[in-house]
Amino acid sequence: MRLGIVTRLCFPALLLSGLPACKEEGPQPPSASDIRRAESLLPASAELRARYERSCMACHAAIDSKAPLTGSVAQWKPRIDKGMALLVKHAMEGFNAMPPKGLCADCSEADMRALIVFMSQEKEERK
Ligand code: HEC
Repeated sequence: MRLGIVTRLCFPALLLSGLPACKEEGPQPPSASDIRRAESLLPASAELRARYERSCMACHAAIDSKAPLTGSVAQWKPRIDKGMALLVKHAMEGFNAMPPKGLCADCSEADMRALIVFMSQEKEERK
């Protein structure tokens, strides 16, 4: 009985204390070379490139936007681990500071998927 109470009290405390620990395991802050890579990468397809350049790039190649950087596999890893379907949904509907459709009004769901694949990989066509 007493153990039951302890468990009930400790379980939420454990959950709370686990949160900062989770944060520490997160990706490292981006380095100067992460930024340079993000700025230099562009999708190979001209159509996708145009969409990327006028929307996603503004945040996903900028250090102060808090968006996972293009080409930073480590930053994208915890996102990709959530599953592509959820990422596409978040990209379409918005997610925290990430605006719906990433401000790309004419981006289809397929474009979103291709843009996410592009941004989460280290290599693509360079400028
Ligand atoms: C106005 C800035 C901005 C633009 C433009 C933008 N994003 Fe984002 N994006 C963000 C921010 C900030 C986050 C991080 C949100 C968070 O985790 O709280 C993010 C996160 C994401 C995520 C991860 C969502 C998740 O569930 O973890 C995806 C996928 C994404 N963006 C795709 C895109 C695509 C594709 C485009 C272009 C069509 C785009 N973004 C344009 C700011 C932007």
